[in-house]
Amino acid sequence: MQRILIIGATRGIGNALAQEFVTRGWHVTGTARKQAGTPLHAIQDEHPAAVDIVQVDINMPEQISALHDRLRDRRFDILLVNAGTSNANQSETIAETTAEEFSRVMVTNALSPMQAVEALAELVTPEGTISVMSSGQGSITENTRGGREVYRGSKAALNQYMRCYAIRTRGARPMLLIAPGWIQTELGGAEARYTLAESAPKLVDLLLAQKGRPGLRFEDRDGRAVAW
Ligand SMILES: NC(=O)c1ccc[n+]([C@@H]2O[C@H](COP(=O)([O-])OP(=O)(O)OC[C@H]3O[C@@H](n4cnc5c(N)ncnc54)[C@H](OP(=O)(O)O)[C@@H]3O)[C@@H](O)[C@H]2O)c1
Repeated sequence: MQRILIIGATRGIGNALAQEFVTRGWHVTGTARKQAGTPLHAIQDEHPAAVDIVQVDINMPEQISALHDRLRDRRFDILLVNAGTSNANQSETIAETTAEEFSRVMVTNALSPMQAVEALAELVTPEGTISVMSSGQGSITENTRGGREVYRGSKAALNQYMRCYAIRTRGARPMLLIAPGWIQTELGGAEARYTLAESAPKLVDLLLAQKGRPGLRFEDRDGRAVAW
């Protein structure tokens, strides 16, 4: 049985991917901030042998460290760091946002995912894939329309830090930054272009397609390279 560790699997994209991996016969270890009652717990109720849930807030380094210790004897084929957030007022400019809100978004979307990657990488098999949920809005080249400045900056920072990580670790394994497309979730909003149901199989295919391709890539839901 192949295994994936998903950080942030309670709802939205992370949860839909957890469900899709279980449907394809994988074992999923997913993290939640709540102890019970999330859609991830519902998947576990239906497939108790295929799902483990560990409680983690990605912004608490001691909880990431405890997660590592708890899982130290397991090896995963894929690590997916999916947890992410947006600033409450997405139309504010970078100069209008408060330092507190800027820090919350940057810590959740850039610092904490990288701390999770660093701490959990050794739980991934040497040829396994390390992936992080980025966004097309993290592309500087493709930013021709502006907007969502705080969020864009956090995902651009995440991309930069993953490149540093890939260079430092010499890109010896598959590593992926995902631009999943605009998807209907709490973060994406109801007017988003894609549903979770149509997105999950494509994103799982994208993750599986990384096998045997060492090095860092930034790819969209169709496996096309996204310009940095
Ligand atoms: N939806 C889109 O259109 C879109 C597009 C591009 C990229 N993305 C990225 O995709 C990822 C998932 O987004 P989504 O649309 O599925 O959003 P969502 O529905 O709001 O779900 C966010 C997920 O992240 C978790 N999370 C947030 N803060 C966390 C923290 N401090 N510690 C642990 N888990 C935390 C949430 O857990 P709780 O249930 O505990 O809050 C939830 O599982 C994000 O990185 C987002 O930036 C989304």
